[in-house]
Amino acid sequence: MNSNPPSEAVFSGIGRRAGPPAITKLMQVALETPGLLSLAAGFTDNSSLPVTFISEAVRALGASANDAEHLQYGTNAGRPALRMALAARLAGQDAPSVTTPDQSRITALRDATFMTNGSQQALYLAIQTLCEPGDIVLVDRPSYFVFLELLRGLGVEARSMPVDKDENLDLPALKSQLNALIARGERERLKAVYFVSYFSNPSGRTLTTEEKQGLAATLRETGCVIPVMEDAAYRELGFDPASANAVPGILGDEVWEGFPLLYTGTLTKPFATGLKVGYGVCPDTRWRSAMLHVKGHHDFGSGNFAQAILEHALLTGALDQQLSVLRRIYSKKRDALHATLISAGLADLGWSWRLPQGGLYLWLKGPAGLDTGFDSTFCRACLAEGVLYVPGELCFGDNPPGNTVRLSYGVLSPEALAEAGARFVRAARKING
Ligand SMILES: Cc1ncc(COP(=O)(O)O)c(C=O)c1O
Repeated sequence: MNSNPPSEAVFSGIGRRAGPPAITKLMQVALETPGLLSLAAGFTDNSSLPVTFISEAVRALGASANDAEHLQYGTNAGRPALRMALAARLAGQDAPSVTTPDQSRITALRDATFMTNGSQQALYLAIQTLCEPGDIVLVDRPSYFVFLELLRGLGVEARSMPVDKDENLDLPALKSQLNALIARGERERLKAVYFVSYFSNPSGRTLTTEEKQGLAATLRETGCVIPVMEDAAYRELGFDPASANAVPGILGDEVWEGFPLLYTGTLTKPFATGLKVGYGVCPDTRWRSAMLHVKGHHDFGSGNFAQAILEHALLTGALDQQLSVLRRIYSKKRDALHATLISAGLADLGWSWRLPQGGLYLWLKGPAGLDTGFDSTFCRACLAEGVLYVPGELCFGDNPPGNTVRLSYGVLSPEALAEAGARFVRAARKING
C-alpha cells in the first residue's frame, strides 16, 4: 500500500498564468442555455464546408501516391509544393498588376514559408521566440482576443496603438507613445508590433496602405525597427476578391525594408476550419530558424495529411471555387444581420457600426456608459432574450471601453441571424428603458 500523501504538481510560470480561454466560457454558456442563438463563436459556415471535395481529394491522393507519403510524417516546415503554391498566391496578391510572376521572388517566399497547426501556432511561435515575461508588444485597438490571451499566458504586456475617433491608427499619438516609452527606459522590453490587417477580427476593418506605411515610418523615426507581425487571417474573405489585393501586405511593400517581418495566413477560414492548417512567412532567417527550432519541439511538423489535402485544393483550383461560394454566403449573412439591426431600430438606440466588406464580424459601439461585459445587466438581458455575443472588452490590450460588442455572422443561417439580431435589439431596448 502506498502511504505517500497525494502531492500537487508545482507549475511553471506558463502553467500558473494559464486561465481558461474566454471562448470556453462562451461555449459553455451556449451549451447551457437551451434555444440560445450564438453570435459569439468565430466558427465558419457549416453547410458550405467542402465535404465532397475532401472525399474526392482523399480518393485522388490514394490513387496517385504509390508510397502513401501523405500518411507519413512530413517535414518540420511543411510540404514544399504547398509552400510554393502559397508563395505564388501571396506574390500575386501583393503585386496584382504584375502579369509575369517573378520566379525568384516566389522561390524566396516559398523558402520563407512554414506550415503550422493553424496560424494560431505561428503567432505563438513568434511570441515564444521573441519575448520574456515582462516584455511589451504593441497591438492594434481593438485586437484579436485569442492573441491577447496568448500574450497574457506568456506574461507579455500588450499595449494598444492609439486610434482616432474613426478608429484609424493615430500616428502622431503613436509617435508620442513611443517617445514616452523610450523616455521611461522601456525600449529594451518592446519586442514586436502585431496587427490584424484585413477585415479584422474583431473590427471588420482593413488597414489602409497609408496607415501601414505611416506605421513603418513612425517606428523607424522613433528608432523602433522591431519585429512586425501582420495577421492576415481574413485576407481571402473580402467580398470583392480584388479587395484582398488593394492593399499590399508587409512583405510586398518596401517601406518595411530592414524590419524583421512575419506575415501569417490560414487555410482554415477560407477552406476547412477542421483541417487546421495555417502558415507563417518570415524572410528573416534568424527569426524563422528560431521559430522552426521551437516548432520542432512542439510537433516537428504539422499534420502532413491535412496539408496534402490543401495542396490538392490549391493546385486544382478548388480553393478559389470554395472562396467564391464563401464570399457569396458571408456577404448575404452580413446583410441579413445588418438589415435586422437597422430595421429593429438599433441605431436609434445610440448604437453604431460600420458595414464590413469582408470577414465574419460586425463590431458595434453601444451608447456611452453602457457596460457589455460578461457580468453586465446588458449581457444578462441578451441571455434572457436567447442571444450571445462577444463582449468587446476582451479585444483590448489595455484601457478597454465598456460599450463594445463583436457579433459573428459566420455560423447561423440568414434566417437565424435575423432572429438573433432582433433578440439583440430587444435586449438593447430593455436596457435603454
Ligand atoms: C485574427 C485571427 N488570427 C488568427 C486566427 C487563428 O486561426 P487558425 O489557427 O484557424 O488559422 C484567428 C481565428 O479565429 C483569427 O481570428
